Amino acid sequence: MRHVINVTILIIVATVGLLFVLNRVHLMPVAASTAAGPVDWLFGLHMDIITFLYVLINGIMLYCVFAFRRRRGDDSEGSYFHGNTKLELGWIIVPTIVVMIFAVLGASVLSQVSAADAKEMKVIVTGRQWAWTFEYPDLGITSTELNLPVNEQAHFILRSEDVIHSFWVPQFRLKQDLVPGQDKELRITPTLLGSYQLMCAELCGTSHAYMTAPVNVLSAADFEIWRQKRLGIYKEPEGTGTGGGAAAEDPVAVGKKVASSAGCVACHSIDGSKIVGPTWKGLAGESVTLADGSTVTADDAYLEESIVNPGAKMVQGYPDVMPKNFKDVLTADEIKGIIAYIKTLK
Ligand code: CUA
Repeated sequence: MRHVINVTILIIVATVGLLFVLNRVHLMPVAASTAAGPVDWLFGLHMDIITFLYVLINGIMLYCVFAFRRRRGDDSEGSYFHGNTKLELGWIIVPTIVVMIFAVLGASVLSQVSAADAKEMKVIVTGRQWAWTFEYPDLGITSTELNLPVNEQAHFILRSEDVIHSFWVPQFRLKQDLVPGQDKELRITPTLLGSYQLMCAELCGTSHAYMTAPVNVLSAADFEIWRQKRLGIYKEPEGTGTGGGAAAEDPVAVGKKVASSAGCVACHSIDGSKIVGPTWKGLAGESVTLADGSTVTADDAYLEESIVNPGAKMVQGYPDVMPKNFKDVLTADEIKGIIAYIKTLK
């Protein structure tokens, strides 16, 4: 009986202590969607149970190692016993009930986070090795950055063009695989203004680690400005700006930003190393040898053609794998920006 009391006290103290520590290390990133509440609650409950089980198993084991160790001069055999019906029933029934409770809680959280709002914005997300594109069919916009209005549900239709990818914005908590040949769904209602990052969470080849895209949660007004800018119908409000329209952004800065957000850098290095596609370093103005042995000078026209119609002039030694949709995804200014940026990489 003494041992039972000792072990019980040990387990209670160690569980409370460990949970105290775990609750102070922030395991989760900032919560930025309505799913975060129920997901974090269920995650917390799992952590509580797991912490208790960890302490239970290791606590009893360590206690036994010390309390029942062989004493000096004791060379007798340990007593032999076989089975313990009560104990065995206990470790079958209790975990079964716990697992069933978690199944019910999990199903309830799943139905909460996948519930559809009456008003939702559809976004078709396409993943390919190794870039993301976002199509807003109701707005007539296609983009390489994911912009979402705050407190409005986004209904994502997830498609892959090649292998399995996985859509994951940690701050939104939910994760969904993209499976070739199938439409997958995910509903997210962002609740916190800010900039986040979409990552691919499924190992999908050489540049998997670079398969990211910027995610911005915007106020309704800022989202409307972005929409109008993308559609080319934005007008600077009276009395602001520099007069004569918005000041043009530096093309090199635009290009550098797009190179990262559109996924160019996943395949084109800027330091001369060979990844999937030719490096951008020292490319502009150089003579390039094509697959058919002919050569061409990498002038603005060649660089632009290679972005909007990448299969037209294949560089010798490289596969024809670049996505063919950049002419729809990038604006004319963004393409000019990328060319300006490449020209700075001497
Ligand atoms: Cu796509 Cu990893």
